[in-house]
Amino acid sequence: MAVFKHPCLPRLSHNDKYMEMGKKLEWDDKYSVGVELIDEQHKAMFTTINLLIDTINTGPEKEKIGEIIGNLVAYKKFHFETEEKYFKEFNYENAEEHIAKHREFTAKLEEIQAKCGDDIFALAFELVDFLEDWLIDHLLTIDQQYKQCFAEHGLK
Ligand SMILES: [Fe+2]
Ligand SMILES: [Fe+2]
Repeated sequence: MAVFKHPCLPRLSHNDKYMEMGKKLEWDDKYSVGVELIDEQHKAMFTTINLLIDTINTGPEKEKIGEIIGNLVAYKKFHFETEEKYFKEFNYENAEEHIAKHREFTAKLEEIQAKCGDDIFALAFELVDFLEDWLIDHLLTIDQQYKQCFAEHGLK
């Protein structure tokens, strides 16, 4: 049986019945990119990841977890498209580098999905682990870089 390590998880039991995850994401103004629409999308991703954690912790149901993961993957695509639409519209200078990060993320997500196969609990667990780190890092670094450009184009 695969054993997954999670820094927020003092006790880990992966027996297809019970897993417990600790840390949930909390929105903070430091994550803001100064554009309401995009902040709302980022917040929605926080909410969905937290919902996934709650679902894992409170009597995990395969269908429900699968549904949340499906929503998360679809929403991530929608969100990247939103940012990339503005990059194009504003001729954003770091667009190429930023889009490459989005593609890397998608590839990593697919890699995790392929690795976990039908093991929906393992998938949920790995996804939360990866998403929390990636999202916070992406929000605090690369997403912050378009803040000025978007503001200069009057987006708020
Ligand atoms: Fe981004
Ligand atoms: Fe973003």
